[in-house]
Amino acid sequence: MTRAHWGTRFGFVLAAAGSAVGLGNIWKFPYIAGQNGGGAFVLVYLVFVATIGLPIMVAEVMIGRTTQKSPIGAFRELAGRRSPWTLVGALGVLAAFLVLSYYAVVAGWAMHYTVLSARGAFAGEDPAASAAVFGETAGSSGISIGWHLAFMALTVWVVMGGVQKGIERASRILMPLLFLMLLVLLGKAFFTEGFGKAGDFVFGSHTDKLTTAGVLEALGHSFFTLSLGLGGMLTYGSYLDRKADLLRGSIAITVLDTVVALLACMILFPITFSYGMEPAAGPGLVFVNMPVALGQMPGGSAFAVIFFGLVVFAALTSSISILEVVASYLIDERGWTRRRAAISAGVAIAIFGIPSALSGSTHLFGEGVGSWSRGVFGESVTSWFDVVDHLVSNWMLPLGGMGIALFCAWRIPEGRRFEEFNRTRRLVNAYRAWMFFLRFLVPVAIAAVFLNKLGLLDRFV
Ligand code: TRP
Repeated sequence: MTRAHWGTRFGFVLAAAGSAVGLGNIWKFPYIAGQNGGGAFVLVYLVFVATIGLPIMVAEVMIGRTTQKSPIGAFRELAGRRSPWTLVGALGVLAAFLVLSYYAVVAGWAMHYTVLSARGAFAGEDPAASAAVFGETAGSSGISIGWHLAFMALTVWVVMGGVQKGIERASRILMPLLFLMLLVLLGKAFFTEGFGKAGDFVFGSHTDKLTTAGVLEALGHSFFTLSLGLGGMLTYGSYLDRKADLLRGSIAITVLDTVVALLACMILFPITFSYGMEPAAGPGLVFVNMPVALGQMPGGSAFAVIFFGLVVFAALTSSISILEVVASYLIDERGWTRRRAAISAGVAIAIFGIPSALSGSTHLFGEGVGSWSRGVFGESVTSWFDVVDHLVSNWMLPLGGMGIALFCAWRIPEGRRFEEFNRTRRLVNAYRAWMFFLRFLVPVAIAAVFLNKLGLLDRFV
């Protein structure tokens, strides 16, 4: 069988940008920027995206493009059958399984909120009522599990359609809509009184709240938001023809992702400020603050439908890329049909995600998991959902990113790497810069994250 390919190179950029732009941009980035005081955090994040995220993205897409294989097969081809480097690919498949299991839960909440918005449920809602609605959503097993399963079914359906007819087509439809919705909401936010204040919050230099932990959070988030570290970009790269441009594509994806994250801030914060709410609301920024703000706004219900619809679309173009990592492993390595691979992986992930969907309610595992995870991971990690998120975002993705960077920079022979990088144009200085970042900066930065987590950084600096 010949390998599936993108219909066009632009189709790849759209699909990969669709993967990058997701809950990470619209839900997570604004709230962590809010918690870390805004401006300075945003700046640090931008630096990490350019110097760490972009070089790793180029490495991932390149490994996929040159081997035309999904992560495990790609590492096996480049490193040899029994090489321990194949573990980087295996870690990626496992991480993809874990990420999607809770990602789909949040996406499910957004689906539920889209329906609530359409019913006008947020009109005139006060903060306490809004918090109660969110509590009910995350806390009711029926709603949370039902929408989680619905979202997983949607994801499976797209992936079953294949690279061109499923993933690429979905991205072609959803991404332009997503930008349109962003612009409509930005226009709305622009005319609220809080716009100037939000601009200052996001782009002003507020260094007072930025801590070491915040800097490391920015680094971790730069992986998550660019879909790096688990072989997602590698898999999408494996559907590119060998002559497709590497650098320009990667830059386009990175810029699009960053623009959407900043736009999301300039939508959420003006609205939040205008209606007298707090920027540091945490995960509730989207699900508690926004409904209150939108509910007071003239025409708020329509904008609420657009806003939560936007979140769902963004999440869907990302979730398909995560499921594709697991599915392509089953297809390439196990010889399964795409249909069987997508459905089996989807069902397994959906079931595995049920405890995450229940995390808001009970303490399904009771205080057991709560106290255990608090002990192991720290105070903020109190449910199954948090445990999985923490494990993946803070450990597996950086570890995978480190593996990919080290492999690409030190293990792939210089001749082949140089040739691959320069396939379309000869860019010697860009190559040198890329090598510098990948060889030194990336490993040092990621090592710093791990040392800090183990509580060792303070002893050195
Ligand atoms: N980047 C997406 C977001 O910001 C999520 C995502 C898709 C992802 N694929 C990934 C995260 C691979 C980590 C790894 O929401």
